[in-house]
Amino acid sequence: MQCYIKLWLTFRSSGYLPTVAIFIPELDIAAIDSKYNVRPFKQAEPSAVTGYNTVELEALDFSQYKDGLEGYESRKRLASSLEKSISTYGFFNITNWGFPSEDLEKLKSYSQAILDLPQEEKLQFLSGAMKTDLEDRSKSLGAERGHGFKPRGYWTINNGVQDSIEFYNFRDILHDGPFFIEKKYPEVAQAHLPEFASYYRYLHFNVLRRLLNLCDIILQLPEGYLWENHFKVWKGDLKMNSGSGVARLMHYLAMPVEDEEKTGGTWLRGHSDSGAFTFITSQPILSLQIRDYYTGEWKYVGHKPDSLIVNIGDAMEFLTGGYFKSSIHRVVAPPDDQRQFKRLVMIYFNNLALNTIADPTSLNSPKLRSLGFNKPEEWDTITQFQWDDEKSRLYGAKKINSKPGDEPELVKLFGRNHERWHQAEGDLRLEKLSLASV
Ligand SMILES: [Fe+2]
Repeated sequence: MQCYIKLWLTFRSSGYLPTVAIFIPELDIAAIDSKYNVRPFKQAEPSAVTGYNTVELEALDFSQYKDGLEGYESRKRLASSLEKSISTYGFFNITNWGFPSEDLEKLKSYSQAILDLPQEEKLQFLSGAMKTDLEDRSKSLGAERGHGFKPRGYWTINNGVQDSIEFYNFRDILHDGPFFIEKKYPEVAQAHLPEFASYYRYLHFNVLRRLLNLCDIILQLPEGYLWENHFKVWKGDLKMNSGSGVARLMHYLAMPVEDEEKTGGTWLRGHSDSGAFTFITSQPILSLQIRDYYTGEWKYVGHKPDSLIVNIGDAMEFLTGGYFKSSIHRVVAPPDDQRQFKRLVMIYFNNLALNTIADPTSLNSPKLRSLGFNKPEEWDTITQFQWDDEKSRLYGAKKINSKPGDEPELVKLFGRNHERWHQAEGDLRLEKLSLASV
């Protein structure tokens, strides 16, 4: 029962106790780790190249988050800081968020071993088809959302070039039965399921929950409102009513030089995320860029050790009538002195409960009312599920991406742009904004 005890202890230290005893077969973890060469993940050194246009993201120090009535002023201060980011760039850092960094390093080493599995083994655990254009969406969720490996070359980037990215998705990680018992995993992933569950559940039940309370304060809703109505996890509900997310281990393989020339150095084309919040482990390779909401310029996101990078997805933008921003971001080739390192990230794509109507009508937020953020006329009434499902059919598809330039073909879905291109009018730079106090 080595695995089970480990899971329980980690939850206990984070203040969240699992309610279900789960059966996990006893495995010889040391032998499996040795067989798959589980070793520490070697992070890149910071680049010595200077002169990159970087954006300094707002950092929310979660050690300042205090519960209870006496902690309200501390949460209000954090909410004020969050509001600046969430309503402008849609990206921010969270520091001191409480998960032990030594445990996170171990998870990176397991992730590395999973992503380094031989190709023939990966093919036995594919999340869908080999290419998005071959995916039968009536039978499969596709690589973006499916359980298992996304192979290299699944998406079209542009000019006919295919991606050089591999990832492994865990589905249903918040639900004991489906996650631990019903699914098939590569042996090295199976051996470390409790630790992965522990991490991603900490993100959902602890970090996300605190973040949502801050969003409630911003929106002048009672704290707990967003959690209770759109993110709470209902045991056994894998469909519509429960908060959910997809956990992803992802690494970027070097793109062939001739391909890189054709894409102008873009490894992952500009896009917005379809869900509510995305949590990414910060890492030193200078590659992630966000598109400045106000100027349209691409800017690099710098690295803050031990922090999470968090971004808003389309669903939170829709739920707030456009007040929270789901910004466009992409990944480009790193500086020359970081090219020998692999960019490995662990991501949690979190969704609203899939039956949530993705507009601000039911939210009834005094803050949004006072700022004039309502459901625009042209938006159809849709759920998070409809948006996620429809958008994923187009992501990386040849018919909209295989063209030159930065912009994929503009497609309207349910009265909304498929990609969330924002170009605000006027001089609304961060330093010139004076936001209403929360
Ligand atoms: Fe993304």
